[in-house]
Amino acid sequence: MKYQGTDLDIVENETVLDTLLRHKKEVSYSCLSGLCQSCLLHAVKGDVSPDAKNGLTGTAITRNHFLACQQPASTIDSVADIDLNALFSHAVVVEKSLYAADVLCIKLEPVNPHYYHAGQFINIRNSQGDVRSYSIANLPATEPFIELHIQRIAKGKLSTWLFDMVNLGDIIEFQGALGHCFYVPDSSNIDNDLMLIGTGTGAAPLIGIAKDALHAKHKGDIHFYHGVRTIESLYLHQQLTNLEEQYPNFYYYPCLSGEVNGEEKSLAFYYMNYGRASDIALEAISSPSTTQLFLCGNPNMVNATRKMALLSGISSQNINTDPFDHI
Ligand SMILES: Cc1cc2nc3c(=O)[nH]c(=O)nc-3n(C[C@H](O)[C@H](O)[C@H](O)COP(=O)(O)OP(=O)(O)OC[C@H]3O[C@@H](n4cnc5c(N)ncnc54)[C@H](O)[C@@H]3O)c2cc1C
Ligand code: FES
Repeated sequence: MKYQGTDLDIVENETVLDTLLRHKKEVSYSCLSGLCQSCLLHAVKGDVSPDAKNGLTGTAITRNHFLACQQPASTIDSVADIDLNALFSHAVVVEKSLYAADVLCIKLEPVNPHYYHAGQFINIRNSQGDVRSYSIANLPATEPFIELHIQRIAKGKLSTWLFDMVNLGDIIEFQGALGHCFYVPDSSNIDNDLMLIGTGTGAAPLIGIAKDALHAKHKGDIHFYHGVRTIESLYLHQQLTNLEEQYPNFYYYPCLSGEVNGEEKSLAFYYMNYGRASDIALEAISSPSTTQLFLCGNPNMVNATRKMALLSGISSQNINTDPFDHI
């Protein structure tokens, strides 16, 4: 396979991204699962597989762009970088605050107007060229900024950079918005119950989706399950409690999956749920045929819950997922 005109040997069953990384080429990537689109390349010659085009816009497909992490190297003869600058836009950091010791809230004001849905994600690139995805937690119709919630990951490149190096007024690069996990207002589903299940900062896209549905005057009930290990990680507790007080069809269920001792239990809220958010939520579903599910956060939780939901009678088109896949 040729990359930027140079011949590279390929190994059986590897993807184009595998080949490039094995040859120590500096290419951008993040989720490795075909979601984030940060590994886009241009196929100069060869057959692009359907998986490597999945989720791309018509323009990108016409231009022979493809996802390097999903493309077998064996069917591509020649690839080239694409103009990343054409994909990335700029945004100013207008607010930075802590929601919890390990959860940062960052607000970005795009330099050029941007269209997006709450629940989609953007890719952020640091000065080293590392790219990671972060979900949009607010409603574009009512606010001129993009709000992100970032979990600090020990030794994580992008999360550490955002926590420790990025300051108010800085201009950062982002791509997107991308992804299909968002609320679609439709007269046929306005009465459906929405079941939102998120772990950790999986609550970020979900609060955006909930606000979007409430803004669109969704008539069905909206059930928000936030799964965390410790009480301190319920970083949206106040905001979700406020929504519950404000809207009669919004219900919030904090769920603790970690070990809790007696003293901690006495400090917890009387309506605290103990166990995994996904188990508690699935058990509560009474009418699977009219329930719409949104699953965000830990990829193991998202994938396992999707399977269980299908078995319990929820149709696949009513299940929206946003697994926070990581390398
Ligand atoms: C579609 C999508 C949306 C996402 N939205 C959000 C969001 O809204 N908020 C958010 O905080 N994150 C989100 N993520 C995850 C985010 O993109 C990064 O993966 C995460 O911030 C870690 O990046 P890093 O550069 O800090 O760590 P890296 O340098 O990539 O990783 C350092 C080490 O930590 C491990 N690691 C990485 N992430 C985790 C994790 N979550 N748990 C345990 N170990 C981990 C890695 O395997 C590696 O060993 C999303 C991911 C996807 C694909
Ligand atoms: S889509 Fe290829 S790394 Fe995310």
